[in-house]
Amino acid sequence: MGPHYPFSLPPLPYGEGDLLPEIDEKTLHFHHDKHFAAYVDNLNKLLATCPACQDWTLEQLCMDWCRLPEDIRQGVRNNAGGVYNHTLYFQGMTPNPGEGRDAALTAAVERDLGGMAALKSAMKTAALGVFGSGWAWLVCDRDGTLSVRKTANQDTPLPLCPLLTCDVWEHAYYLQYQNRRADYFEAWWRRINWPMVSRLYGQCQDTRPRYPQD
Ligand SMILES: [Fe+2]
Repeated sequence: MGPHYPFSLPPLPYGEGDLLPEIDEKTLHFHHDKHFAAYVDNLNKLLATCPACQDWTLEQLCMDWCRLPEDIRQGVRNNAGGVYNHTLYFQGMTPNPGEGRDAALTAAVERDLGGMAALKSAMKTAALGVFGSGWAWLVCDRDGTLSVRKTANQDTPLPLCPLLTCDVWEHAYYLQYQNRRADYFEAWWRRINWPMVSRLYGQCQDTRPRYPQD
């Protein structure tokens, strides 16, 4: 993802069949190449009408959309969030989940959430508790404390530092799991890219404060 307009669609970081059997090819194809691509295209179309907004970073657009011209405000909120959230979502899965949680992340999960089983339970509660479309998140705050959140529609948890997210829009799972969101969550959990989560946790610690007005 470039730093600002025009944004481009990040390639899927693995093959469409590489997450089988948890996420099938058709689901990944439509989710990445159609849904995610549409958020990128729509965001660029909106920003094309606003030269003054074209040097904003994706994070700025997600956090400060309320300062944008009124006619593009809601559209940018939805589509910048869609780009940000899907970027993390697709990077957050891997064909080779294996191990890969580093000691610092494991200790923080234990300290703040009561361990991995409790993290999974909290993420699942959040994922199943989203009414309609939205996201479940593992985030890190300014003090380095982990917590689980949920957001509606395409809202992000910024300026909290996102480490991991589960897309619970029906488009993420309906082709394969129909209405069984809990089954999809269990499948997604088995594909988590823990090395990425560990890396982001380290970066969140290193780069605070990450938002000048925070
Ligand atoms: Fe999605």
